[in-house]
Amino acid sequence: MPVREIVTVPHPALRRKAQRVTTFDAALRRLVDDMIETMRAAPGVGLAAPQVNVSQRVIVVEYEDEEAGVPHQLYAVVNPRVVWAAPEIEWGVEGCLSIPGLAGEVPRARAVTVVGQDPHGQPLRLNLDGWVARIFQHEIDHLNGVLFTDRARRVWRLEESPSAAAV
Ligand code: NI
Repeated sequence: MPVREIVTVPHPALRRKAQRVTTFDAALRRLVDDMIETMRAAPGVGLAAPQVNVSQRVIVVEYEDEEAGVPHQLYAVVNPRVVWAAPEIEWGVEGCLSIPGLAGEVPRARAVTVVGQDPHGQPLRLNLDGWVARIFQHEIDHLNGVLFTDRARRVWRLEESPSAAAV
């Protein structure tokens, strides 16, 4: 599973609307495996296919929070779509592997329901809240060519990079 190159701003792949996946084949599963490897090597907690210069609607998210008692979770979602968002908005700090050295305070829905498919084409429905809901919203934005800096009310330069929460 090779690590792929992560493209950074102003690479045009980051601003393109990614294509819906219609073929669930070995090449798709290879892409997912490579994305997981690339996310871990970065390291990051999420990655969207446009970040490795593939204009397809695929994201991976890996998350755990021992302090909060949240066990390790790894998600690979194809054609993810937010079908419900909580009305409550929370502000939180985000970074992005495609925007090295910057962090910003970004508003996100506190909880979301995401539907999509797994890499074999089986339907998925995920009820997410808190930090993992934030990561999914960030990754789905990538599929639409939207970056966190478009939504942030304040952006600042990190003295040390990369951010542990880079997505
Ligand atoms: Ni990102």
